[in-house]
Amino acid sequence: MKLLTTVLGSFLVITAVQAEISSNVAFDRQTRAIIEAGDVAQGKLKAASMKCNKCHGENGQGDDDVSVAGHPDTYIYKQLKDFKEGKRDGVMRKKVKKLTDQDMADFSAWYASLPFAKGLKGGGQLAIDLVYKGDPKRMLKPCSTCHGQNGEGGKYDSAAITGQNKDAFIEMMEAFKEDDRTNDIYSRMRLIAKVLTKEEIQALADYYAAPEEE
Ligand code: HEC
Ligand code: HEC
Repeated sequence: MKLLTTVLGSFLVITAVQAEISSNVAFDRQTRAIIEAGDVAQGKLKAASMKCNKCHGENGQGDDDVSVAGHPDTYIYKQLKDFKEGKRDGVMRKKVKKLTDQDMADFSAWYASLPFAKGLKGGGQLAIDLVYKGDPKRMLKPCSTCHGQNGEGGKYDSAAITGQNKDAFIEMMEAFKEDDRTNDIYSRMRLIAKVLTKEEIQALADYYAAPEEE
């Protein structure tokens, strides 16, 4: 009996590990109501007073650091919540510790109201094919199916990927590839990043990334 309990016990532990979900955020009515209560002007004030601008710039475009401008508000809210709940790693974890739901909604409204920088559209045919055709042989869907025709993002958790800082873009892709970032629901981004080569990631960065600051 003891053996059976041990066996059952470890089975349960294994199942629990496998079942760990990538995010606690579901875009149900309650969550959408929280996000809709976000206030652009409050978000702007808080971004200055809580020193978010130090890294993300006054216009959210990062000024040589990570851009947060122009994402759907739902996406921003999800990221902040994921950092807070330990679902996404990185320097942001410390920054979100004291944020309330209202703060997160205000930041979401503010950053979503800001325009993203235009992508450079470099990377040649290699990038264009991946953006618009994908590669059925590797089960690769085109980036544009989820991130929009111009990388502007879509509903809920589909990020805006155009206008991102080039280094940050590459780091994000590497993080999905190496399982350092696992907050993408149903592994949608991990599955893609894992089959892309370094050269392809570079070409995509050249395509989507913003021009560097002078
Ligand atoms: C010390 C620099 C720094 C400060 C200060 C900072 N951030 Fe960040 N933030 C980052 C970095 C770096 C990332 C990229 C995430 C990563 O991979 O670690 C990021 C990511 C984000 C993201 C997700 C962006 C995406 O595209 O996925 C949001 C939203 C965000 N920060 C909001 C904020 C808010 C709101 C504040 C202020 C409360 C803030 N940040 C303060 C450095 C900073
Ligand atoms: C099946 C849908 C899907 C496809 C196709 C897809 N992505 Fe994504 N991608 C996502 C989702 C969903 C997220 C956000 C995950 C999360 O919740 O953090 C994401 C996030 C990202 C991010 C991080 C954004 C940020 O600001 O943190 C980058 C960069 C990215 N994708 C690039 C790409 C590129 C390049 C391609 C094409 C090779 C691509 N994606 C194809 C669904 C997709």
